Amino acid sequence: MEDKSVVIEENSNYKGKVCVTGASGFVASWLIKRLLLSGYNVIGTVRDPGNQKKVGHLWKLQGAKERLRLVKANLTDEGSFDDAIMGCEGVFHTASPVLGKATFDVTVEILNPAVDGTLNVLRSCKKNPRLRRVVLTSSSSTVRVRDNIDPNIPLDESSWSSVEFCKKFEIWYVLSKTLAEKAAWEFCEQNNIDLVTLLPSFIIGPSLPPDLCSTADDVLGLLKGKTDKFDFHGRMGYVHIDDVALSHILVYEHPSAHGRYLCSSKVLDNNQLVSVLSERYPSLPIPKRFKELDRPSYDFNTLKLEGLGMKFKSIEEMFDDCVTFFKERGLISSI
Ligand SMILES: NC(=O)c1ccc[n+]([C@@H]2O[C@H](COP(=O)([O-])OP(=O)(O)OC[C@H]3O[C@@H](n4cnc5c(N)ncnc54)[C@H](OP(=O)(O)O)[C@@H]3O)[C@@H](O)[C@H]2O)c1
Repeated sequence: MEDKSVVIEENSNYKGKVCVTGASGFVASWLIKRLLLSGYNVIGTVRDPGNQKKVGHLWKLQGAKERLRLVKANLTDEGSFDDAIMGCEGVFHTASPVLGKATFDVTVEILNPAVDGTLNVLRSCKKNPRLRRVVLTSSSSTVRVRDNIDPNIPLDESSWSSVEFCKKFEIWYVLSKTLAEKAAWEFCEQNNIDLVTLLPSFIIGPSLPPDLCSTADDVLGLLKGKTDKFDFHGRMGYVHIDDVALSHILVYEHPSAHGRYLCSSKVLDNNQLVSVLSERYPSLPIPKRFKELDRPSYDFNTLKLEGLGMKFKSIEEMFDDCVTFFKERGLISSI
């Protein structure tokens, strides 16, 4: 039988073979779309490659039939990423539980898959002699959840969220991302793995998977007039899904990329956000005002990623694309 990988490697557009964990997710699906378009061979990991509802959209991507392979792997099964990662030059680790709240056990549902799951993926990376770089999808929430923020100095990558603060106020998702990124840095330093972490803020834009992830569902709720989720989110940075995908590839490819990279276009209070949105989409029942939260104000300094050449799309562009997508899906009125 003809060895297709050899034929592909002889093609001058071949960019190499990379693995993307959690391939069926919101971020990973868009990242895979961009990786395939730029010529990579992609191994995507999913919990169930046979689940057409979860993976059908991936097979429709341009280049997928020729250059995408899906492999079964679960963050909580030790060694289950070995096959997917072996032979890849790059690994994009995006899989992580993104539940707002655990339904029964925080440790089992959120902390273990995030922290031990990341180490599980990295142990597979360590076994792979072809590995060049790992890009971990962290979160801007690993930077901004602290109680001693100076509102006059924008937060940059040197800032870390406080583990104690997250535990005290039971902010489990942020705790899981903070502990997972810290564990990744420690493991990669000890094992000489080239790690770069990307810290996106709240991601806005069209969704490729048929089911909305929890953040996209929160945005849909806001555009339909709900306030509960954004009451909690408060002041947030926002970034377009396509910029997040492109930034992953940028920090993977750029020879001098190193350390952490905040990935965010603009930080807005809820009231600033709804003011922009209601003016732009007057037919949507966007909430008029949010209560002011007693939380420190902050901004992000994203010069590090911009220094590699990243140019972020505006709030208007990201919400235009998102609203158009919701209308096309029939999730909000198209009038
Ligand atoms: N959305 C945002 O605004 C945002 C902002 C900053 C950072 N991030 C980060 O971006 C990454 C992707 O999130 P997303 O927004 O794309 O959410 P998502 O659509 O829910 O994707 C999460 C992915 O993780 C996978 N996963 C969860 N637990 C797993 C397990 N035990 N084993 C294997 N896979 C598992 C999920 O697989 P299933 O499909 O099988 O459940 C899913 O593919 C996460 O690391 C998240 O923290 C997201």
